[in-house]
Amino acid sequence: MSLRRILTVDNAADMAVLKQISTPVEGGVTDDLRRLMDDMLETMYAAPGIGLAAVQVGEPKQIIVMDLGDREGAEDGDDEGRRNPRYLINPEIVWSSEELASYEEGCLSVPEIYDDVQRPARVKIRYLNYAGEAVEEDASGLFAVCIQHEMDHLKGVLFIDHLSRLKRERAIKKVEKAARAA
Ligand code: NI
Repeated sequence: MSLRRILTVDNAADMAVLKQISTPVEGGVTDDLRRLMDDMLETMYAAPGIGLAAVQVGEPKQIIVMDLGDREGAEDGDDEGRRNPRYLINPEIVWSSEELASYEEGCLSVPEIYDDVQRPARVKIRYLNYAGEAVEEDASGLFAVCIQHEMDHLKGVLFIDHLSRLKRERAIKKVEKAARAA
């Protein structure tokens, strides 16, 4: 496994990739894709983050990894407990609740920026898992937030695109400034 570089919004070339529409995976889940997903997961853990879309490591394919640490028996702050990896290939939202919920989101491609985004509180999703099996699942709470945030990435949409133009521009300037200082 190897760590991949996470694209960020302060870099124009990265931004052009982040804005791309990811293509569906065809021909099932291959070992090559599983290697990519393993790399994505390690990259996400190292960052650290709770979700990552393939486009964020420069591969505009419909692939998402996440780990919300919600494994049964896991305790808060328990590193071992965070190992509840999810792999979602070609995810689709087949139903969304009318009820909305607001959550303070962040993104590894927009480091150190957090802001409230409102989205449907619950969704029903369909995807292929690591083994290539079709799964249908109900998501609520942080899982629903994360899946919708990551699925936005597959459409070239960042969470800051849900904010006002002023807030979005301010966020990008802050990331640019931090990158220059580093
Ligand atoms: Ni993100």
